[in-house]
Amino acid sequence: MTKQAELQKRVLEGMSTVVLLFDADLNLGYINPAGEMLFEQSARHLLGLSFVELIQHRNEISASKWIEEVKSGQSFTRHEVPLILLNNNEVTVNLTILPLTDSADKTEYLLEIILVERWLRITRDEQRAEQQEVTQEILRGLAHEIKNPLGGLRGAAQLLERELPSSDLKEYTQVIISEADRLQTLVNRILGPAGLPKLKDVNIHEVLERVRSLIKIEVKDGIQIHRDYDPSVPDVKADHDMLIQALLNIARNACEALKGKGNITLRTRVVRKYTIGLQRHKLVACIEIIDDGPGIPADIRDKIFFPMVTGRAEGSGLGLAISQSLIQQHDGLIECQSEPGRTVFSIILPIN
Ligand SMILES: Nc1ncnc2c1ncn2[C@@H]1O[C@H](COP(=O)(O)OP(=O)(O)O)[C@@H](O)[C@H]1O
Ligand SMILES: [Mg+2]
Repeated sequence: MTKQAELQKRVLEGMSTVVLLFDADLNLGYINPAGEMLFEQSARHLLGLSFVELIQHRNEISASKWIEEVKSGQSFTRHEVPLILLNNNEVTVNLTILPLTDSADKTEYLLEIILVERWLRITRDEQRAEQQEVTQEILRGLAHEIKNPLGGLRGAAQLLERELPSSDLKEYTQVIISEADRLQTLVNRILGPAGLPKLKDVNIHEVLERVRSLIKIEVKDGIQIHRDYDPSVPDVKADHDMLIQALLNIARNACEALKGKGNITLRTRVVRKYTIGLQRHKLVACIEIIDDGPGIPADIRDKIFFPMVTGRAEGSGLGLAISQSLIQQHDGLIECQSEPGRTVFSIILPIN
């Protein structure tokens, strides 16, 4: 070994950065000691394994998509990527993949991994949980405020109905009564019997079909509702009515955003290895409500799940806060991605 090569080897072996080198077929050809520590195995056991065997993105189908990008000849860097490693360790890393072409025109891939402290992700999850707790508290306060006058309102409408000179007018008192009942159900749902959902095996497609038929009544012909269901998604343990309400609020927003014209897609998928909060799930159901409307206004994008945040003059700003609270009571999660022409709300529910 030349002096130069020896020095390079010493540098690589002394580095705290994890360095892996993959051959053209993406099998591991070299790993430095920092890498062995990360994977908790010696190079001897790891060499020859493929990229996707070693590394999986935590919430995405596979890391092989990155490779596609690098194969086009460009280096590529990502920050704070959640990974699951061969040894099932979950880590958050900054990573760089660099294609290296040698003099014989053979390409190898250099993967550099820098661990971002785990607390970074945990703090973020904790902050989110805290924020949701505040949201829940505000919602409960609000629900109590509505609950009390509601009983009086309904009672008064019933008394009024008895006194009405003509039964034609009953139509109006019936509106008051039925709307009061609807609000009562909603309020009860927020307050809940100690806030606990009644869990049963629920078929999410049946729930989505209910949501679909409910919004179909409300929307004009200009809005198409498409279905992209994966029939292999197993039942989830959920409160049927709560789930309908949670999805309905989101689907209604999509309709409203479309202003009478556009497409809504209801999509379901199973996703493996998904982390919600601090809990890692082997299998989750992912329900997506997608619309091709204008997208969420930029100024409220970060806070749409807060109560009273609305982008509409006639909005209450409660829909998404309620949805989130309901889904959270199922140990689930709502995520949102939005740009003009494509807004996706993903509802993730654990499958036991
Ligand atoms: N699919 C969507 N497309 C565009 N904007 C949306 C969408 N969903 C929600 N929003 C925005 O988020 C806001 C908050 O929604 P929500 O909590 O349901 O309250 P509300 O519907 O009463 O305004 C909406 O007012 C709207 O501006
Ligand atoms: Mg709404």
